[in-house]
Amino acid sequence: MVQKELVTNNMTLTDNASGASVELPVLSGSVGPDVIDVRKLYSSTGKFTFDPGYGVTGSCLSALTYIDGEEGILLHRGYPIEQLAEKSSFLEVAYLLLNGELPTGHEHNEFVDAITHHTMVHEQLSTFFRGFRRDAHPMAILCGVTGALSAFYHDSTDINDPVQRMIASRRLIAKMPTLAAMAYKYSLGQPFNYPKNSLSYAENFLQMCFAVPADDYVADPILSDAMDKILILHADHEQNASTSTVRLAGSSGANPFACIAAGIACLWGPAHGGANEAVLEMLNEIGDKSRIGEYVNKARDKDDPFRLFGFGHRVYKNFDPRAKVMRESCHEVLNKLGINDPLLELAMELEELALRDDYFIEKKLYPNVDFYSGIILKAMGFPTSMFTVLFAVARTVGWISQWKEMIEDPAQRIGRPRQLYTGPVARDYTPISGR
Ligand code: CMC
Repeated sequence: MVQKELVTNNMTLTDNASGASVELPVLSGSVGPDVIDVRKLYSSTGKFTFDPGYGVTGSCLSALTYIDGEEGILLHRGYPIEQLAEKSSFLEVAYLLLNGELPTGHEHNEFVDAITHHTMVHEQLSTFFRGFRRDAHPMAILCGVTGALSAFYHDSTDINDPVQRMIASRRLIAKMPTLAAMAYKYSLGQPFNYPKNSLSYAENFLQMCFAVPADDYVADPILSDAMDKILILHADHEQNASTSTVRLAGSSGANPFACIAAGIACLWGPAHGGANEAVLEMLNEIGDKSRIGEYVNKARDKDDPFRLFGFGHRVYKNFDPRAKVMRESCHEVLNKLGINDPLLELAMELEELALRDDYFIEKKLYPNVDFYSGIILKAMGFPTSMFTVLFAVARTVGWISQWKEMIEDPAQRIGRPRQLYTGPVARDYTPISGR
């Protein structure tokens, strides 16, 4: 079904070989490039489009997030990320993404209260953790236990019921920090901490990660504010790999817990959410300012698979606006905590050198959000293996909002890309004796 109100033009595609032409509708969104609606292409021409990596393919209509990669702009429901990071809170941004508008005071209180009262997980879920080795990567654990949620919360897996969809969304946003903290505590061999309803979302997460029964724990407001900002900056990012994974999994009618587990699996890769972990490992490997040039040269070398982690982006061909906020926040947190981290010095020098380098200028490779986030997380006391887990906690909001938008779209159908087949043509089976 073509969204008639979005059609602003037609485009004629002509096959030079046969001279046959086909008219394709051109659709316009509220802002950003128009798209050519190719849904009738196969029935009209017998041909598919070819776009590995989906670099120029729009897969859905979405009203959540807009990115202008050339200008370095990121908007959630129209609001610039810089304003949200400065003025809003993570749960307010979560409400905005889920519901389309900023909440009124009453809506805000109801939402915060609901999230706060969904943070505990079924007690039996804690026995799941014992099945994992203590040295398991927390992303492996998070992926497994998130998938297991669908075995615990049957009353919110009917995707056709809007109330169940809302409960599942709230459960996922509320329980993800609890599961993430449990994955961390398990790796340390320390007891799990229950959530506390008197604390904010960020304070609670820090408490569950860092408190021990033997001591009192009060989260440093500098750290809880920084954590809230990190969560806002990672909340959603349009149709990236993990979000598209969530949508594709959800398009078959899979339950939301299973879909978010699929998103976590995709996020883990070093080209995506795993990059913040890789940035810190890379900075540690470089070790000293005197070796930066050597690593920039490695990144430029076509025969060397090495890439500068934290640089480049599929969509941003300018500064990632999240990286700018993260850079500022990184300096602020380290200053306030009185931490003098040589890795920050190294990162700044590397950034400066790369930004002046012809290769990086020509390919429009700028620092992305992951370049600085690892340094703040390290200052907070998180080990590198937890960095992507924190990304997953934040991105759960975007995943579930995108999933909900998809399920509520009347034009939604199962995702099923096509291919250009290059294998053998039909041939007869040869018995083993004849091979
Ligand atoms: N260092 C060196 N060269 C690079 C880098 C880099 N970080 N990123 C891209 N290039 C080169 C790449 O080799 C290619 O060169 P050529 O045209 O000669 O073949 C060109 O730039 C275009 O790269 P691409 O891989 O075709 O671009 P892409 O859109 O497929 O990849 C990316 C985007 C983010 C996967 C890539 O830039 C990358 O691997 N960056 C490092 C990992 C990273 O920081 N990822 C976090 C992304 S932001 C957080 C998130 O969304 O998850």
